[in-house]
Amino acid sequence: MNSSSQRNPRRILVTSALPYANGPIHLGHVLEGIQTDIWVRFQKANGNECYFFCADDTHGTPVMLAARKEGIAPEQLIERVQKEHHKDLSSFGVWYDNYDSTNSDENRLISEEIYLKLKEKGHIARRSIEQAYCEHDQMFLPDRFIKGTCPNCKSKDQYGDNCEVCGATYSPKDLIDSHCALCGTSPVRKDSEHIFFKLGEFQNFLKHWIENGNHVVEGVQKKLREWLDSEDGLQDWDISRDGPYFGFEIPGEKNKYFYVWLDAPIGYMASSKNFFKREFPNEPGKFDSFWKDGNAEIVHFIGKDILYFHTLFWPAMLHGSGYQTPKNVHVHGFITVNGEKMSKSRGTFINANTYVKYLDPEHLRFYLAGKLSSGMDDLDLSFDDYTARVNSDLVGNLVNLVSRISTSILDQLDRTLGVLSTEDKELLNELLNQPIKSGTGEYAVRDIIKNAYEQKNYARVMREITRLGDTVNRYVNDNAPWKLIKENPEKAREVVTTTLNASRFLAVYLYPVVPKISEQIYKLLNLEGTPQFQDLNLANILEKTKVNPYEMITKRVDEKAISAMLEENKQSVDASKKDEPAKTNESPAKEERLEISIDDLAKVELRVGQIVEAGPVEGADKLVNVKVDLGELGIKNVFAGIKVAYQPEDLKGMKVVVVANLKPRKMKFGISEAMLMASGEGESLSLFIPHRDAKPGDKLK
Ligand code: 2FM
Ligand code: ZN
Repeated sequence: MNSSSQRNPRRILVTSALPYANGPIHLGHVLEGIQTDIWVRFQKANGNECYFFCADDTHGTPVMLAARKEGIAPEQLIERVQKEHHKDLSSFGVWYDNYDSTNSDENRLISEEIYLKLKEKGHIARRSIEQAYCEHDQMFLPDRFIKGTCPNCKSKDQYGDNCEVCGATYSPKDLIDSHCALCGTSPVRKDSEHIFFKLGEFQNFLKHWIENGNHVVEGVQKKLREWLDSEDGLQDWDISRDGPYFGFEIPGEKNKYFYVWLDAPIGYMASSKNFFKREFPNEPGKFDSFWKDGNAEIVHFIGKDILYFHTLFWPAMLHGSGYQTPKNVHVHGFITVNGEKMSKSRGTFINANTYVKYLDPEHLRFYLAGKLSSGMDDLDLSFDDYTARVNSDLVGNLVNLVSRISTSILDQLDRTLGVLSTEDKELLNELLNQPIKSGTGEYAVRDIIKNAYEQKNYARVMREITRLGDTVNRYVNDNAPWKLIKENPEKAREVVTTTLNASRFLAVYLYPVVPKISEQIYKLLNLEGTPQFQDLNLANILEKTKVNPYEMITKRVDEKAISAMLEENKQSVDASKKDEPAKTNESPAKEERLEISIDDLAKVELRVGQIVEAGPVEGADKLVNVKVDLGELGIKNVFAGIKVAYQPEDLKGMKVVVVANLKPRKMKFGISEAMLMASGEGESLSLFIPHRDAKPGDKLK
């Protein structure tokens, strides 16, 4: 067994994936934050020099557009979002040594340095590629900003890179009726020169990295072998984007920016650099001592969706530019809620801040730990199971041990511990040294737990702790201190002393998972500082000390709070949906079907309009510019995408149905002040026509 104490103190730099600055923190991020935090707390409490770094991932097209939509600079948007993200993650007890931003000076400098080093060594290529360009928005469109009809199954409204209905993947140029997801006009094809990282030159290096040194678990190795051994081999990676783009300009280039995925992982380094500069001003070599010295360990926690970036591009970039590669990349699965993918309409797309309003973050930590292992299986948060586990294993077993003896029984003993007999110490010894079979050997339970933490097998940790908790509860039940206190108070004191010493050991075991609860137990026992694994020692027993007044440690789960949380989450998601930022750095938000209330419907003002003028729009094939008479509301200017079915000259005099209270939108060709209602696509597009006697300005009911 890999007992970590043999190699103490290790020097470990840990990261979790950087959340995009264009959306709120949800339970998927929280799962990763908690998983990482448990490991970091374990390392720190086990005497290692360990740091936990993260940052907001701030660059890319969606952030640029989200800021534009709000009418603010991207820098303003990312500053606000970073604070929210940090606050949300911290509210789950996820504690970072530094939570930075990728839009920092450190990140710019290291990104430039790495790029220039790769270039100097010949790992950079350039060539012209053809891409979709929106002439209206005057920008190249990332695949996820192009929509159209799937060339395979003909489903409408699919993204430019894959169809969510039939699963086909394709190039955006094969999409039928492709259009810009922002403005609806059809993109043109345009050439531009891009810069590439020649990943293929690292084929042998990566093969070796993957197969040796346990950098990733077996399941991940298998996946990586498929990529490495595929017929196409490793393709060059496009690391540049043309402006307008929110990011770092590439040195020596004009209007070219690093693709967000180039500087995002470098953000791990930059966050650490920023921290070391601030916290260790007299140790300028600290940064290199982690990123270049083979004795230090770099450990990343990521989700399985970003495996390619972290196990191929990233080690290759680091190796190619003279840095050390990660010691370990831990890959976790996705979180599902009540057995299904998180869903906005069911209220199970749970945002972090909604959860903490209703439920205890330590409960989630406890529950998730019981289900997390070293593999990348998905993990289900079933609220029935959550309630059962928290109520029985945490509150009923581990916390109850402390609470049942810490009020009136201790009050009757002047809240003072006694002295332990050899027999009492036996129980404590069992909590540390009980032999457990594992593989071909037998190990003390303390080492089994430590090793399971090290392997990120928290489910095993929790099974062992729960079992030990059962043993102590049995001891308390057998000795019934609530009876002894009347018959033999000194014997009761001995039982209480044994139980609280046992609880202290359990608090140490539990500390990485439920730090607040463990710290509260320490506080109750008058112990200073945070629990440490070296406290798991029979020489460290508490005798004749005072116990502080009992304060509630944690409550049972209130099932009504779960329903209220799901309900609020559903409502808040609905209310914010229209302004929802994109989910990933390359994709505009994909809306689920949304139900609206009758009140929402009442907000839409539909009126009869009469077209009084209609003309073509130069440079926009699909648009017609019309002036619509809305009676008492006057004449409004509208750009309508109806040219495919209507010639401007046929429109004059026509009565149409108009959304009259739409906020005016600035378009490339002018301001559009309303919207014409229509159905169908292509030549079957048809405007809604009111009754021939309807008058301009009439309201539709
Ligand atoms: O997938 C994501 O959410 C990315 N923002 C993760 C970046 S991790 C790292 F490379 F920066
Ligand atoms: Zn556009």
